[in-house]
Formats: sequence, C-alpha cells, structure tokens
Amino acid sequence: MEVKLLSGALGAEISGIDLKDSSKENYKKINNLLLEHKVIFFRNQDITHNEQIALAQNWGPLENHAYVKGLNNHPEIVRIVKTKEEKNQWGENWHTDVSYNIKPTKAVILKSIKIPPVGGDTCFSNMELAWETLDEEIKKKIKDKKAIHSSLGAEFFIDNYKGMSGHEKRNYDEYSNEHPIVRTHPETGKKILYVNWTYTKQIIGLDKIESDEILKKIFEHQARLDLTCRFNWTENTVAIWDNRSVIHYAIADFYPGRGLGHERIMDRIAIEGDQPH
Ligand SMILES: [Fe+2]
Repeated sequence: MEVKLLSGALGAEISGIDLKDSSKENYKKINNLLLEHKVIFFRNQDITHNEQIALAQNWGPLENHAYVKGLNNHPEIVRIVKTKEEKNQWGENWHTDVSYNIKPTKAVILKSIKIPPVGGDTCFSNMELAWETLDEEIKKKIKDKKAIHSSLGAEFFIDNYKGMSGHEKRNYDEYSNEHPIVRTHPETGKKILYVNWTYTKQIIGLDKIESDEILKKIFEHQARLDLTCRFNWTENTVAIWDNRSVIHYAIADFYPGRGLGHERIMDRIAIEGDQPH
C-alpha cells in the first residue's frame, strides 16, 4: 500500500488497496485511513454501481437525499451532473453535506464518471484543525452553543442546477435543525468545528447581528488555505470523505475559453450518520 499526502492539513491518495474486497479487515484498513486523513482518494477504479454500493454499506445503512432522486436501477446512487454549458455545479461553496438533517451524513463515497480537461477540482478543509486554531475569544463564546442549519429547499438543489433537472422533486419544503457548534467525533473523540457557510444560518442565544459577525469570522477561518487540500480529479477516481470532520467546496471555475464547455458527472452514495453531540 502507498499513501501520498495531499497537503500538510489533510487528504491522501491511496494505492494498493482493492476496493472490491468487502472483507471486514479491508474495511477496517480503509476506515483507519479515512479517520487519519479525513478524505482519501483511489484513482483508476473500475468498480460497478453494485460494487460502489457494497463498499459504502461497510460504513452502515445508506441514506436517501431529501430533494434528489437516485438512479432508476440503483436508487442509492445520486448522479451529480453539470452539463457542458453550465457555469454552476452542485456543491460550489463550502459546506458539509446535509448538515440541516437531524442526523447528517457520516461519509460519502463519490466516484468520478466524467471530468472536464480543466476545472472542477474539489477542496476539503480540516475542521479538527479549524477548531484547534480558532481564536480563543471566539472559542469561549461559542463552545457550548448550538446553531441552526437550513436545508434551503428544493429550489437550491434542483432549480439552480439544470443538469440535475431530470430528478424528481420529492420534497419542496425548506426545513432546519439545530446542532452543537463544536461536536465530538464519535470514533476518535476529537472536537470538530461544526458550522458551514452554505447551511448554517444563526447561532442560538445570540442576536442576529452578533451571530452574523461571529459566523462571518468563523467562515473565513474555516476557509484558511493552510487548513485545506485540493484534489484534481481524473475519471474513475473513488473519493471517500468523513463528512463529520471536513467541509468541502466543488470549485465551479468553468469560464469561457478555459473550463467551460465540458460535462462533469459524479456518482454519489451517502451513509447515514449520528446526531451530532
Ligand atoms: Fe457536497
């Protein structure tokens, strides 16, 4: 096995592990790598839909997305599509997947199907390090507080992204849940800064102005480049990220004459998580 670190903060590219091997030992090995590096990548993986599903099931029951329907024959898989002429793509700002749910996703297994020749990298940021390096005054202020996470509704997930428009709109209503701003990782016991620019709307117990000010500072801190890694996709790469301890950002740098004019397709499977505490 070979492990190539992606940055000084998080992320690793792994080779020499067979993702089709669904033995307990192999899963343990992969999960240990995931807990250590928080996001791991495996290039040149010719796994089928069923093999991707079997891999994901090692982590627990799979999750349906509130707003987007899966593939007809494999409802567990949501196909993320950016059409050739689309500038926008799903996940194009800092976020944790579905943090607005009571039990947000534990981990995501994403397989790249079609990748543009340039553009569309994904960044990840390490929220354990973000907590450790956060300003002490802000830490004191927020450490026992909760924040509201909003789903933003189906319009955000479907109408803004034409490539996703073939999907059935299952639930149009926006909803929200509260989570602790600092959560404890259920497997490692580490503290994690658990808010994100896309879905976190307000700190409970502070007035809106103060909440906005503090959240702005936190969001800037989370995006500090020394907390991040950036991954340049190739087709048939399998990525696994720990959705509890990272935020991520799919860069929509599809500009005319450079990144625009190419399709980008990903197959996503999400695993059910715990309620943050
Ligand atoms: Fe995402």
